[in-house]
Amino acid sequence: MVRLLLVAGLCALLEQALAIGQQTCVTFQPSNSSFPIVVKKKATPILVASDDWPGVQRAASDFVSDIQRVTGAQASLTNVTSTPNVGSNTPIIIGTLGKSSLIDNVVNATGLDVSSIRGQWEAFIAREVQNPLPGVSKAYVIIGADKRGTIYGLYDHSEQFGVSPWYWWADVPTTQHPELYVDSAGCSHGSPTVKYRGIFLNDEQPALQSWAAAKFTNGTGAPQTGSPFNSKFYTKVFELILRLKGNYLWPAMWSSAFGLDDPQNQFLADMYGIVMGTSHQEPMMRATPPEFSVEFPNVAWDYTKNNATIKKFWLEGVQRAKNFESVYTIGMRGFGDLPLSESTNIALLEQVVQDQTDIFKQVYGQDYDVSSIPQIWALYKEVEGYYDDGMQVPDYVTLLWSDDNWGNIRRFPIASERNRTGGAGVYYHFDFVGDPRDYKWIGASQIEKVYEQMSAAVDFDATRLWIVNVGDLKPYEREIEFFLGYGWNATRWNPDNLNTFVTGWAQREFDVPDNTAAQIGDIVANLTRFNARRKPELLDPATFTLIDYREADNVLSAWNALEKSSTAIYNSLSSNFQASFFQLVHYPVLASSNIGKMIISAGLNNLRASQARLSTNDLAETVESMFENDFDLETQYNSLLDGKWVHMMDQTRLGYYYWQQPMTNTMPAVNRVQSRKLGLGGVMRIVPEGTRGAWPGDNPNQCAQGYGCPPPSISVDNFSPINNRYVDVSAGGPISFAFTVTGNSSWIKLSTTKGQISPTAPEQRVYIDIDWNQLQDGANSAQVTFKATASGQPPSSVPITINAQKRSVAGGFKGFVEGAGVVSIEAAHATRNNAVNGITWKELPGYGRTLSAMTPLPRSDSSFDVGSGPSLEYDFYNFNTNSGNLTVTVYVSPSFNTLGMNRPVRLATQLDSQGAQTSQPMPDAAPGALPAAWSGVNGFVANSIIPVTTNWSNVSPGAHTFKIFMVEPTVVVQKIVINAGGLRASYLGPPESIQV
Ligand SMILES: *[C@@H]1O[C@H](CO)[C@@H](O)[C@H](O)[C@H]1NC(C)=O
Ligand SMILES: *[C@@H]1O[C@H](CO)[C@@H](O)[C@H](O)[C@H]1NC(C)=O
Repeated sequence: MVRLLLVAGLCALLEQALAIGQQTCVTFQPSNSSFPIVVKKKATPILVASDDWPGVQRAASDFVSDIQRVTGAQASLTNVTSTPNVGSNTPIIIGTLGKSSLIDNVVNATGLDVSSIRGQWEAFIAREVQNPLPGVSKAYVIIGADKRGTIYGLYDHSEQFGVSPWYWWADVPTTQHPELYVDSAGCSHGSPTVKYRGIFLNDEQPALQSWAAAKFTNGTGAPQTGSPFNSKFYTKVFELILRLKGNYLWPAMWSSAFGLDDPQNQFLADMYGIVMGTSHQEPMMRATPPEFSVEFPNVAWDYTKNNATIKKFWLEGVQRAKNFESVYTIGMRGFGDLPLSESTNIALLEQVVQDQTDIFKQVYGQDYDVSSIPQIWALYKEVEGYYDDGMQVPDYVTLLWSDDNWGNIRRFPIASERNRTGGAGVYYHFDFVGDPRDYKWIGASQIEKVYEQMSAAVDFDATRLWIVNVGDLKPYEREIEFFLGYGWNATRWNPDNLNTFVTGWAQREFDVPDNTAAQIGDIVANLTRFNARRKPELLDPATFTLIDYREADNVLSAWNALEKSSTAIYNSLSSNFQASFFQLVHYPVLASSNIGKMIISAGLNNLRASQARLSTNDLAETVESMFENDFDLETQYNSLLDGKWVHMMDQTRLGYYYWQQPMTNTMPAVNRVQSRKLGLGGVMRIVPEGTRGAWPGDNPNQCAQGYGCPPPSISVDNFSPINNRYVDVSAGGPISFAFTVTGNSSWIKLSTTKGQISPTAPEQRVYIDIDWNQLQDGANSAQVTFKATASGQPPSSVPITINAQKRSVAGGFKGFVEGAGVVSIEAAHATRNNAVNGITWKELPGYGRTLSAMTPLPRSDSSFDVGSGPSLEYDFYNFNTNSGNLTVTVYVSPSFNTLGMNRPVRLATQLDSQGAQTSQPMPDAAPGALPAAWSGVNGFVANSIIPVTTNWSNVSPGAHTFKIFMVEPTVVVQKIVINAGGLRASYLGPPESIQV
């Protein structure tokens, strides 16, 4: 019994490895319920019908290639209608219900129940059937309810065979198996959660465009635009989208025109099974601006003046697209993705929409039901404002809500909007050009957050269409797969199993054992966390505090650890997997780490110069070598596999000084000190933790005057989460010296009592620990003295006063204790979590800047009166170090007021039984606009957080409880920081407090 269970468990794991989070039906060994595909190098024949969709026939030939990739065996692919000549073989029969005469015959002959898929958009079933055709005793059928249903059925099996959807786009090798089977019971899938699921290739210069020019053209692009994005390129994209269970594409448009550049583009998209659209700002299936500029070079894109020309332009777009499956973008924006002029009013835009409806009638016929033509109206930026101000479009038009370009969806359909026949959708971003700064180089979106946002879109019925801006497509492979796959089947993922998306992905891509997959899962989680909490483009030398909470040190060591574990895995993989791992994991880790470390190193370099430390120069060299390394890594990527991905990492990323990309990478500014001159402070520099000052000598950070300052002091208490303090002993110039450290009390413990400093070893860190057992409660003071001796130099001595405060909490208290004047708590570590009406604060593991986040689930339209909703309670102990005044900052994700302007996202907080306070994290803004605090390089999205602050007074020393109440859904809380007077500035907040 036990043994059987174990075997079943192993199989489940093995199969899961090949199809991320999906139902599985493929095996590599026979069982008593298996149907053979390849046995003894012989592949079962595959039958299709000549009257099936050409796209199905094309995918069937991919299916044959996929079988060969796995087994080496070549299956035959034949068109048949009723009586195939398959001998004694048991074929695989592929086809579309109601389209393939073969499949209709099989369904008739076998009485197979297809009611679960008939008429269901993109559904499929696959299973073994008996006597499907004359002379055929059994077959495995893969039946789609429609064209893409059949195609997904095929690719779903291919993925389980071990052919990654990224086999070409990320060079994922296929693991060989001599034999291949499917389970007789087969696999099936109903209609996807989201009807249209797509990607948007955007801002494709310099990477994607230069790469495509090198790989898909002979040097000259399309005649009118010069675009390299021809059908050779696009068919690769179409296949990828279909393998990922997507169905929709907004093509590259910055200097390309999909329909114009290659006459095959639109035809092949439709043949493959891809629904085409155009971006939020390109109405009526025309590339705008490029196509308009080509056709009407001297006409302004101004509907008040040139509506006849613009209508003609749109008419041609509809005529061209009429025979192909399309979703039309309607409405209008200014040229080049800018707002229309201020004089544009709602009446004019409503006229535009009316004229577009007339164009549809002109092309499709006056009696045609225009409501059956899929249309979207993108409520992007100012257009959302027009909607809020009352602009209407026909009910059958899908309202495409947008995120803020930074992954925070601005609005979900509210109850009164959910019955619209056109439904609603979401336009999302993994890549962006614009305020406050572009991010278009490396993956900087957490899947955990994408899940949080898109699951809310599901809960609030924005499921008609999802489109995500993917920039150059690479290197956002994993995020794209999650987005499209989640839209295909949103029931697969929840907060409790989401981490298995990446581990399952790692197993499929790199064929690694569970423990390696788990390590890759951790690497990806950390990589994306570090890149998402502040995008690399926004890092500056002052982002992480260089002096408090060891924040910069911790960031540096976390990057180092990440590099180390990624390198270990890279080295352990067989060489055929390394190119793929490099693209998908290793390059993003190494290059992000390199930049993260370089910018902190520049900050330390700048600081040390002001402290007259010789090691300033070493850090300058570190920064310079990291700057060179950035280009080495880029070159390594671009020259992988004989240059298959040439130019793909060309994107500049360093030296942003306004929102737009810099024209070349620029190194952060570094300082140097004169290495041959002894500084005025003498041979020895003493820099205690927590100050920008340095002793001896003058420095504005030592005391108000900056000169003649007293010796430094260090304060420490027994509940500080960082339980020791360090002092850096540094060279103040070219002269070597010996130093000694002495403490004048037995409770002072030093990590060393002496050392040598020289130009080649210019730094030493000395740790001071406190033996708290020797101390009584209250203030204790001692001195630690650093003395330097160097030949020919006067002796140098710096005393440091150590103030050690020992405190005790009342017996029986359990919870977080104030240390260093702060209580810091990860939101997930609530003392109590109180559900109300079945709604509970639930952890989103991995989400956010530090550990995880809490959000009330399940989501619904319910809101709660202040103080009555589901709550999180945090017990803490304070020592009244700030006269009973506490300032509490709740770190909240920058979620928008998605339920409408008159129902902003709020939460309530309460200290003990004091009156609850209500906070609205995201301030109101004018329709279509963003609140001021959102923007800027230190705004909400740059920081990936909103600090929500409340003040509380008359808080006695002792035990207290801080409570957070849900008021509205979609609020996401990451961390709570209670300032009892000791809070220091930092990016991520203080480390979590000690819990007793
Ligand atoms: C099946 O028939 C279609 C339509 O005539 C054709 O395009 C396709 O190439 C045929 N496939 C095979 C495998 O013969
Ligand atoms: C299947 O059977 C039904 C009823 O028996 C018949 O009307 C239909 O034409 C058959 N379809 C095919 C493709 O043979």
